[in-house]
Amino acid sequence: MSEQQLFKVTIDNITIDVPAGTTILNAARQIGGEVAPPAMCYYSKLEGSGGKCRTCLVEVSKGSEKDPRPMPKLVASCRTTVMDGMEVKNITSPKVIDARAGVVEFLLLNHPLDCPICDQAGECHLQDLSYEHGKEGTRYEFQRRTFHKVDLGDKIQLHMTRCIMCFRCVFVADQLTEKREHGILDRGDHAQIATFIQKNLQNEFIGNVIDVCPVGALTDKTFRFKNRVWFTKPVNAHRTCENPKCCGEVQLWMRGDEVFRVTARKDEWGEVGQASNGKTGWICNVCRFDKKHIKDWVIEGPTKVNRHSVIAQGHYVGVIKPQETLPEVLHGRQPKLVMDIHDVSEVNKPNIDLSLLERPAHSTDFK
Ligand code: SF4
Ligand code: FES
Repeated sequence: MSEQQLFKVTIDNITIDVPAGTTILNAARQIGGEVAPPAMCYYSKLEGSGGKCRTCLVEVSKGSEKDPRPMPKLVASCRTTVMDGMEVKNITSPKVIDARAGVVEFLLLNHPLDCPICDQAGECHLQDLSYEHGKEGTRYEFQRRTFHKVDLGDKIQLHMTRCIMCFRCVFVADQLTEKREHGILDRGDHAQIATFIQKNLQNEFIGNVIDVCPVGALTDKTFRFKNRVWFTKPVNAHRTCENPKCCGEVQLWMRGDEVFRVTARKDEWGEVGQASNGKTGWICNVCRFDKKHIKDWVIEGPTKVNRHSVIAQGHYVGVIKPQETLPEVLHGRQPKLVMDIHDVSEVNKPNIDLSLLERPAHSTDFK
């Protein structure tokens, strides 16, 4: 068996060997961290994706060992394959940073700044991108493009005004479902995601369009406006799904014992990850929309939240515990017995419903 040819590529001064045919973006992802350019349309699990949004632009300062000339323009790293000896600049290139700010400005031309009421807030890739690369103001003076909200079936809502035309949802419908019923109508500024004469999307895997949408254009109607995502606790869970194509491994977004939302599990790039059986972790509509009870699932434990977004804020990993102050106030003596007030009184017990009292609570209400 012939050995796979390896190419040496240097990205932001870090050198790595990758198989020939690897894109610059995937080589950068192998290095990881900030070296990996942001990607709004490329999705490694969707064939043909990429090349639409230009957020992944990088500078190729040396083409290859054989032809060291730099590439004259910034290139889309998700669509450009590495050459042996290639040198690439991502965050080390002021040109790239400047161009990315321009791309963000373009993406935000028509995108409403409705994060405070948008269900995607906190896990929106455009929100993260704008914080990292956007400018404070906009130079756009014209009326923004707006659309009416459309229900795609009873579980998914399309808010086209927020769409950035990444095509990911169209690829999901093409590659995961039996029959695609939606696509992109019209061209240029008039282009829009639409179903053929508003047909419902009734395929058993169509819910995955919600997970791949980088913005809040496609949202889960069973979750819309029920909670802010950063107040929920993501938990890994699985069930034996009757659908052989569904991996049955999900993330439950919970508050207390209540399951607010079910999504596929995402990897560190915000993409649907790999299931434990090696398949891509797409999930069916039954798991996503109909299994909203904790009894439906086998809980594995809290999800490790990798992304830098606000979801990570309420999850306490690597917390530094407060210093023990009791021996200090007791002048060095160790307390013999410390009682936890919650264990010895009923103050926080659910059998006393404070909202039912028509007066302030006092000691006679508790033992
Ligand atoms: S609806 Fe979402 S996934 Fe589909 S093209 Fe628009 S932004 Fe992309
Ligand atoms: S991620 Fe490369 S062009 Fe969109």
